[in-house]
Amino acid sequence: MQNNIDIPDELIKILRGAERVAVLTGAGISAESGVPTFRDAQTGLWAQYRPEQLATPQAFQRDPRLVWEWYTWRRNLVSAAKPNPGHRSIVIMEKRVPKFTLITQNVDGLHQRAGSQVVVELHGNIERNKCSREGIIRTPDAKDKGIPPRCPACGSYLRPDVVWFGESLPEQALERAWRASGNCQVFFSIGTSAVVQPAATLPLIAQEAGAIVVEINPGETPLSRQVDHHIDGPSGLVLPEMVTQTWPES
Ligand code: OAD
Repeated sequence: MQNNIDIPDELIKILRGAERVAVLTGAGISAESGVPTFRDAQTGLWAQYRPEQLATPQAFQRDPRLVWEWYTWRRNLVSAAKPNPGHRSIVIMEKRVPKFTLITQNVDGLHQRAGSQVVVELHGNIERNKCSREGIIRTPDAKDKGIPPRCPACGSYLRPDVVWFGESLPEQALERAWRASGNCQVFFSIGTSAVVQPAATLPLIAQEAGAIVVEINPGETPLSRQVDHHIDGPSGLVLPEMVTQTWPES
């Protein structure tokens, strides 16, 4: 099938010989799986819901039931979704590049379900829960029908293991992301609006350290003018094309 996606030759050549590649993904990579993004004008979650009422520690304190139910809705949405060709192309990249680091802001677990072996989760994972008091990962008791259910160890409410506004990112994940970004030859920013910190700094760290920075996004972001290559298009089309051209035998 003929498509209009133009993958720069220079990029294919560099990628073929690259030893160290880092990829940062955002909600856009899961858009073609039917998972809504956050900031797209009509369909983004933050166009329909107010983050301060649903995605902050204060919101959970004020109305734990509302927050839990919103996450239950999102969990159901995500569990019904399937990885798309964009996720699957990243699995191929992981197999082809000797030192490959996938960093995601997504909490949907679709990279893992596609088959990515190592995923640095900057904002947690919606499939897990943790104790709202101790921060330890916990599974609710099967008999606990509470909304939210309680921590089986201490009785506090359980909450999703995701990073809310105003919270710090998991230290280890951030450290790994930082290290990989500062030490790669090619850095990809895929399907992210590149406005949420500290993730938005990662491409700049890579660029400063001498990496080629590539953005894949059908829209413009604050990063678009700074990157070496902006590839305009949905990641579910661009990534398979790029992977096939780089490693035709895959
Ligand atoms: P955003 O919703 O801010 O941005 C999604 C980006 O994906 C936009 O730039 C779109 O143009 C792009 N996009 C849409 N469809 C696409 C497609 N098919 N292929 C490629 N790109 C596409 O989502 P994030 O940048 O991930 O944080 O948002 C960052 C963080 O803000 C999220 O992790 C979340 C949110 O608040 C927390 O929940 C902590």
